[in-house]
Amino acid sequence: MIYVTRRERFNAAHKMWKADWSEEKNKEYYGKCANENWHGHNYELFVTVKGETQESGYVVDLKMLSILINRNIIDKLDHKNINLDVAFMEGKVSSTENLTIGIWNILAPSIKNELNCTLHCIKLYETENNFVEYYG
Ligand code: NI
Repeated sequence: MIYVTRRERFNAAHKMWKADWSEEKNKEYYGKCANENWHGHNYELFVTVKGETQESGYVVDLKMLSILINRNIIDKLDHKNINLDVAFMEGKVSSTENLTIGIWNILAPSIKNELNCTLHCIKLYETENNFVEYYG
């Protein structure tokens, strides 16, 4: 089994806010991440797929993987407000954890169906220092 990774980037606004907590509790717990007028991140998304080497010598054509990620994920997130604009995050706290799970749930079936390999890992950097990994 060989593992291949494509990096994509997007930037987006959000605030950390849990709808069923009081304003006071949100502000106390999330601190400046709960700033009413939003804040933004330059996210880095690493999508790792696995499979066997094909006749082409590739596990996956990275150009095709990039197109698929852009169509299904980046177009929905880039320059958007994650709390307000992104259908697959509706009703969820806009944490990197939830974002990572949401991205997995969209990409896993489309990678399987369209690219003849398997999604292995979604890694999402919110900042240089903070990132989340999800293996399904
Ligand atoms: Ni944030």
